[in-house]
Amino acid sequence: MSLFAIKPHARIVRESQGSGNQLKRTLGPVNLVALGIGAIIGAGLFALTPKAAHDNAGPAVVFSFMIAALGCAFAGMCYSEFSTMIPIAGSAYTYAYATMGELLAWIIGWDLVLEYAVGAATVSVSWSKYLVRLLDHFGLSLPSAITRSPMEGGIVNLPAIFIICAVSIVLIVGISESAKLNGIIVAIKVTIVVVVIALGFGYLNRANYTPFIPPNTGVFGEYGISGIMRAAGVIFFAYIGFDAVSTAAQEARNPQRDMPIGIIASLAICTLLYIGVAAVLTGMVYWPSINIEAPIARAFLDHNLVWAADIITLGAIAGLTSVMLVMLLGQSRVLYAMANDGLLPKKFFGDVHPKFRTPWKATILAGLLAAIVGSITPIEIIGDMVNIGTLLAFVIVCVAVMVLRKRDPGRDRPFKTPLVPLVPILGIFFNLYMMYTLGKWNWIRLFVWLVVGLFVYYFYSRHNSRVQLHLLPGELDAGDVPIAE
Ligand code: ALA
Repeated sequence: MSLFAIKPHARIVRESQGSGNQLKRTLGPVNLVALGIGAIIGAGLFALTPKAAHDNAGPAVVFSFMIAALGCAFAGMCYSEFSTMIPIAGSAYTYAYATMGELLAWIIGWDLVLEYAVGAATVSVSWSKYLVRLLDHFGLSLPSAITRSPMEGGIVNLPAIFIICAVSIVLIVGISESAKLNGIIVAIKVTIVVVVIALGFGYLNRANYTPFIPPNTGVFGEYGISGIMRAAGVIFFAYIGFDAVSTAAQEARNPQRDMPIGIIASLAICTLLYIGVAAVLTGMVYWPSINIEAPIARAFLDHNLVWAADIITLGAIAGLTSVMLVMLLGQSRVLYAMANDGLLPKKFFGDVHPKFRTPWKATILAGLLAAIVGSITPIEIIGDMVNIGTLLAFVIVCVAVMVLRKRDPGRDRPFKTPLVPLVPILGIFFNLYMMYTLGKWNWIRLFVWLVVGLFVYYFYSRHNSRVQLHLLPGELDAGDVPIAE
């Protein structure tokens, strides 16, 4: 097909809805903001922030948070524009399909596996570490053979498998049930983060902030300005997830109004919380002394606040659980959208459970993939892969906004990205720069993953694509997009 054909995506969705194979529209604005926060606050805050302060930026890690937030905000506005125009499952995959054709859509859909399934795997490893610590605290030690991957001296990470399976079961049972569980977890973790900030505020030591930007050691990325930039690339992981809100567009009651609220509000709330925690942590503990193993809990233990340290560990376990929940939700919806288009076997990935009305087989497969990756791979390798894959998705969505503005300027846009093309261009610049900071090996891994995807496309998807009719640029009309029910 032409790379620049616009696909009548919604028609295909309507076909599948006609057959009764449809998702339930139950999510309101609060659910959507909670979904965003559920996916955002996790390993990035509890594990990577202190590490970035310790290794790269010192107290200036708060600037790194502002820089990464800018890149995400630019991309978030572009996501919002699309999610109100094309409010169906699939997120960046769907947007790329509607604007740049099937091949690019396939590439982005394949790339999103890195963000969602591998992202959930990464977080499951962190979850397992926190669980081991909690059990240790109660005098119950699990042997490292069953809590570490082979590359870390173990055999298999069983807690990581366990939590992915548990989360997958909740997701299969229903979107409302998943949203309810997510809402409870989000309330717990936001409360705990606010407690950390409020309590920690009383223990700040001004001397720990001097110098606020530790001088560069002479090595790129070790403090100074380059350290701030490097830390931004690392803690970018902490922001991943706000875009997962857009994967649930087909389950939102009023996507045109609520999608931008879900995306932008969750991003804004988390940015404030992150800056608060980073400022408190580096004010409580002099950055070279930050404990990398249990950083935030340790800071409170050092002030004899044992109860606070325990609550933080529990909060981390809860927080990481909701990240996996929303990541796997996102993955199953992207697979569902791709299957509806015939790019993946529809019978399997597009099958909606007759009772639970969730894409249960896609959820099981996404869970299996995450469980396998999480149980045998160390967190450092997969974490960076998630970052680079997600950043690529952000770049493509920013490009897609400009493409569709040019090609179809008159189209109804319930939410408009401000200052186009400036905002998408800044989004591309910031996110590409963060990709650059991730280094050669991550680029090579990303390239290999995409090449594997292209093989699948040429040998399977291309021949099974359900797109029969290709509209020319400008021929997509508002009637092609389902309106809110
Ligand atoms: N933003 C998510 C986290 O930090 C992926 O765990």
